[in-house]
Parts: sequence; C-alpha cells; structure tokens
Amino acid sequence: MKKILITGALGQIGSELTMALRNHYKDRDIIATDIRMPSEPALRDSGPFEFLDCTDPNHITRVMQRFDIGTIYHLGALLSAVSEMKPNTAWQINVNGLYHILEAARQYKCALFFPSSIGAFGPTTPKVDTPQDTIQRPDTMYGITKVTGELLCDYYFKKFAVDTRGLRFPGLISYQTEPGGGTTDYAVEIFYEAVKHKHYTCYLRENTSLDMMYMPDALRAMVELMEADGNRLVHRNAFNVTAMSFTPAQLGREIQKHLPQFGMEYSVDPVRQGIADSWPDNLDDSAARREWGWKPKYTLEAMTKDMIARISERIGLPQEQKAR
Ligand code: SER
Repeated sequence: MKKILITGALGQIGSELTMALRNHYKDRDIIATDIRMPSEPALRDSGPFEFLDCTDPNHITRVMQRFDIGTIYHLGALLSAVSEMKPNTAWQINVNGLYHILEAARQYKCALFFPSSIGAFGPTTPKVDTPQDTIQRPDTMYGITKVTGELLCDYYFKKFAVDTRGLRFPGLISYQTEPGGGTTDYAVEIFYEAVKHKHYTCYLRENTSLDMMYMPDALRAMVELMEADGNRLVHRNAFNVTAMSFTPAQLGREIQKHLPQFGMEYSVDPVRQGIADSWPDNLDDSAARREWGWKPKYTLEAMTKDMIARISERIGLPQEQKAR
C-alpha cells in the first residue's frame, strides 16, 4: 500500500485522524507531520513522525522523496479567530501552504483531502438550510482562504486530474485535543468548564445558531469521502456536511440534564460574535448524502453524554462527582 501523509498532525483534527488511520490501516503507512514534534507518547510512538512546515516546499519535497505517498490529508491551517488576528500568516499557511501541497500532489500523483469550513460562507449567503451551491462572499480572512482553497482544489482536479476531495466542516467537538483560535471553540471549552467548575462564561450570544459535529463522525466522513467512488462525485471539493445545529443556550440546557448545577453566563467577544453572525445557522448536506452516502451518527444528546463521560474520566473525577 502507498503511504498516507498527514500535515498538521498535532492539531485538533490531525491528532485524532493520525490515530484513527493507524488503527484503520497499518501504523507504518501513516506519516504524521507537523511544525513541532509530538510529546504525546501514543502519537509519537505508534508510527513515523516528520517535521514538515507546509509553507516551505523543500520540506514537502524531502518527505515526498523519502516516502511513497499516495494520499495527503492536508490539515495544517489556522482557524478563524486567530486568522482575524494574523491575516497575513493565515494567508501564508492556509493558501500558500495548500498551494505547495497541491503542487506536490500533482508531481507525485497523490490524492488530496482539503478541509474547508462553514467559514467559506458569508453574510450574504442564505443562512437557513444553506445550499451546497450558493453565494460565497466571506468577509473574514479565514473564509477567504477557505474559498480560495476550494477553488484551487477544483482547479487542480480539472486542469491536472489531481484527485482532490474536501468537506466544509462545521464546528468540531472532541475531548482529546482542544481546538485553538476558532469561533466554535466554545462548544468544546464549555464541557471542560462544566465538568471542572459547573460554570461557563460564553463569548457568543445565547441565540447564536451554528452547525457542529462530533469528532468520530468527522473522522469517518474524511475516510468515507476519500474511499468513495470518484465517478459518483459531482462536487468533490467542498461538500457541506453537518450533524447537528444548536445555540449556546441549547447546549447549556443539554449539559444541565447531566450536571444539574451547571450555570452559564455570557460575555460577548465582538470579533468572534461577528464571525459567527456571518456564518450559516445550518447547512443542507444532501449533496454529501447523495453522492457518497454521508450520514452522521451523533446527535446533540449522544455527543453531550459522551463528552461529559470522557472528560470526567480524563480529569479523573471521583465516581460520585461524575456526570449522571
Ligand atoms: N471551527 C472552525 C472555526 O471556528 C470553523 O471552521 O474556526
């Protein structure tokens, strides 16, 4: 089997995808890379790890020459809030990094997975049941880099027959690696604060509706898309996918079912609120369902129950203090 390269392997998606692919395929076949070396033993010791900065084409060439790579999961990127603070760096990493990876995929004949986002939509996009093909005029640097990425991936497929595929991810919720600098991070932070302190101060308004997905569904979506019959794919690079859509208040009420003392207050961060307000309330993911059989497993209820149980376990709370 040809090997699989993962960039950004220490990030929120990458750290879990690396372990999932090492379980799904053979450990030695998954080449994990990032701009720092892993300290977590499971990731470090379960297979090859290389230093790779995707903004430097020489790093990519070195890894491509060393390993016989057939597929790249390109996850090295900045999230939305941090991209607003560092727009120049966001362009360097999210666009130039992708461009170098696309060039490598072309030269070494690799398939490529690219994660786009609900951030690829903007204030003029229809907010409810946002269609697969619709207006995309984002006004954040993150969104601009994601639309550029979608278009570049489409172009490399059309022009050079690179097998590029991708998903527009909603906010991803996981208990293993925390996200950093995203607008949807509250939906992860809230669980840690609820379990540790029974209280959370949310930086988004209580009625801000956004799409979300539990990480096991996101990992499965990536693998299923990459393994799908390419002849059935009409859209290829930017499938809307979602599993649930909720507001901070709705998530808070769901957590209260397990932790009745949990309380929430709000202190709105205008930057992240502005970003969230420009994104859809909920996506229509029927193209993904039709073209490659997408179907989420985790609802808000199932995700909340699992998050609380896993985080309580991680934090090592005595049994009687754990979630009901
Ligand atoms: N979760 C991402 C963010 O908030 C959206 O793609 O930046």
